[in-house]
Amino acid sequence: MNIRLEESKDYREIENLTREAFWNVYRPGCTEHYVLNQYRTNPDFIPELDLVMEVDEKIIGHVMFSKAELVLDDGSKKASWTFGPISIHPDYKRKGYGLKLLQYALDKARGMGIGFICMEGNIEFYKHAGFDLASKFNIHYHAEPRDAEVPYFLAQELIPDWLQNNGIAEATYCPPKGYFVADENPEAFEAYDATFPQKEKLRLPGQLGYEE
Ligand SMILES: CC(C)(COP(=O)(O)OP(=O)(O)OC[C@H]1O[C@@H](n2cnc3c(N)ncnc32)[C@H](O)[C@@H]1OP(=O)(O)O)[C@@H](O)C(=O)NCCC(=O)NCCS
Repeated sequence: MNIRLEESKDYREIENLTREAFWNVYRPGCTEHYVLNQYRTNPDFIPELDLVMEVDEKIIGHVMFSKAELVLDDGSKKASWTFGPISIHPDYKRKGYGLKLLQYALDKARGMGIGFICMEGNIEFYKHAGFDLASKFNIHYHAEPRDAEVPYFLAQELIPDWLQNNGIAEATYCPPKGYFVADENPEAFEAYDATFPQKEKLRLPGQLGYEE
């Protein structure tokens, strides 16, 4: 198993890997491959944390990180960070690779001075990499009631006491604009997605908002 930086020759393969990993998981189809495609030229993108995982010289995983912001109650903003999409090819899921890739990336991020990360995800996976509910850090999610304990909104101090040392007792987080590209430009997204092999979009139990 090897982890290395993404190279331009990998772009298409990794976007397809991202599409395969996310397809029909959270919604019919997925948009995460377009997010990645658009993010690489976004100033929030962090090239040093654009990482691929190889097994037997085949790319089976990828993760990217982004600069983000926390908004304090007085309206002022503080730099923070987030990550995703993180993808493991469906044939390699639940074999420990996702956790290894994430832990490697988080260690590298810490070494770069990245002190606090928040993100949306399933705590059953991310707790193994040190994440906890963001509400425990007094960080609120922009799209939920302020005092809600949001089960999918997670955070981690990579550098101990980073929040306190940066004067952040409480704040609100909204994902960076780069994560909304498919909603903002659905026609461009559809045209991009159509360049990949045809796949069937299915409404499945476990997806966001799924109702019997
Ligand atoms: C989520 C993902 C990156 C996890 O990588 P992975 O290699 O499959 O996960 P790991 O084998 O490293 O998981 C380690 C542990 O985390 C937990 N875990 C992993 N995925 C989980 C899931 N979907 N639900 C609940 N727990 C999960 C399990 O406890 C697992 O250990 P176990 O298999 O011994 O029970 C990968 O499954 C994936 O690409 N999924 C589709 C895309 C996606 O959802 N990305 C994350 C968006 S927030």
